[in-house]
Amino acid sequence: MDTFSKIISLCKRRGFVFPSSEIYGGFGSCYDFGPLGVEAKNNIKREWWQSMLGGDKEIVGLDAAILMSPKVWQASGHLTAGFADELVECKQCNKRFKKDEIKCDTCPECGGKLSKSRKFNLMMKTFVGSVEDEASETYLRAETCQGIYVNFENIWKSMRLKIPFGIAQIGKSFRNEITPKDFIYRTREFEQMEMQWFCRPENADKFFEYWRDRRIKWYLDLGLKKENLRTIEVPEKKRAHYARRQVDIEYHFPFGWHEIEGIHNRGDYDLSNHSKHSGRDLRYSETDSSGKEKKYFPHIIETSVGADRSFYAFLTDAYSEIKGARTKTTKAVKEVEILLKFHKRLAPVKIAVLPLVKNKPELIKKAKEIYSLLNSHFSCQYDEAGSIGRRYRRQDEIGTMYCITCDFETLEDNTVTVRNRDTMKQERIEIKKLVNFLKEKLEE
Ligand code: GAP
Repeated sequence: MDTFSKIISLCKRRGFVFPSSEIYGGFGSCYDFGPLGVEAKNNIKREWWQSMLGGDKEIVGLDAAILMSPKVWQASGHLTAGFADELVECKQCNKRFKKDEIKCDTCPECGGKLSKSRKFNLMMKTFVGSVEDEASETYLRAETCQGIYVNFENIWKSMRLKIPFGIAQIGKSFRNEITPKDFIYRTREFEQMEMQWFCRPENADKFFEYWRDRRIKWYLDLGLKKENLRTIEVPEKKRAHYARRQVDIEYHFPFGWHEIEGIHNRGDYDLSNHSKHSGRDLRYSETDSSGKEKKYFPHIIETSVGADRSFYAFLTDAYSEIKGARTKTTKAVKEVEILLKFHKRLAPVKIAVLPLVKNKPELIKKAKEIYSLLNSHFSCQYDEAGSIGRRYRRQDEIGTMYCITCDFETLEDNTVTVRNRDTMKQERIEIKKLVNFLKEKLEE
């Protein structure tokens, strides 16, 4: 099995990601995040939010509606050719492919002849209200940032913000992708984490560099390996329709280098278009030192990353295989053991509580008491099934940071062993000191 298939299999087996509607045969490249997947993804989202709103720059949050007036999408350019894939269709098997992904002029599936290319819009249509007619037609949002632009005036006025400032949002977006692929890499429903930085036009270039560098640092600080990250300056012809400058941050997935985040200089494209289409003056106004009022469209630097796609990158990066046993004292459970080396802030489970044996009721009682104590502070699991070696392996496979083992000594002196996932070093700690000890370890 290749790494790509192994990761998909791990995701299903250990409750990270399941195919959507699986009992009905799955549905259109949609996926559900299971108990561990949602923990890990929430950790990523929390880290992102904290890095945006908790930093030294003025940034506020927003949670806009997914459904918006269809006029928003007229103004944004998403209903026109700007937001469409160029497709070719096989005349024999009728399968469709993105033109720029086709390497020759015959169908990669059946060798049939391909049609001329045509544009296919990616917006997902839906109906609002009880009547399905053109008047009730709208779209599921294709990027979260449009909710930010249409609220620009509401936000800077209500929050009394002064340029430069940012607005951040996390939420679902939808695209009718023609070729969803590579597991959760490209799906039709996904979550975006987007921050729009509003600045004076003359400062846009400077802030572009600043945000690009800050976003790369975020991945590195959360443990992504430097050699698996790179940036690509996107040439004009390949840029998104709103971008004056675009740098893609790419990750080295098992299926090649692919974008995980886009940094865009959107200039005044969005605010000026929404002004024109809505009839509302969305210019920002400020008073200069001589007391004169100046009105202008701020320029926008955008950082835009998929929560699901970055989860996929963090998971892939954390995945490692170990041949044979991790210690000389424990026998190998399998020929190859899996270790997920998630950064401690991203690990879905922080602590596992393991009684050494399960046929000693006092030990089980004690272990369950410790589990209740810890579970109100950390994301925890309790496991009493199988040999202790097997249980360590199970926790390594999901990236649990610390395993707490209760043994016979615990019953005598109220101490437990704490095993570190990466070093496998074991320390003996008093139960009453455990919460503070683990908090320090997880926060250091
Ligand atoms: N507002 C700008 C924007 O949406 P984008 O490059 O189209 O830019 C930004 O998307 C990020 O959103 C991508 O880098 C990716 O992480 C995520 N994304 C986009 N389409 C996706 C899809 N079909 N499935 C999963 N993630 C997607």
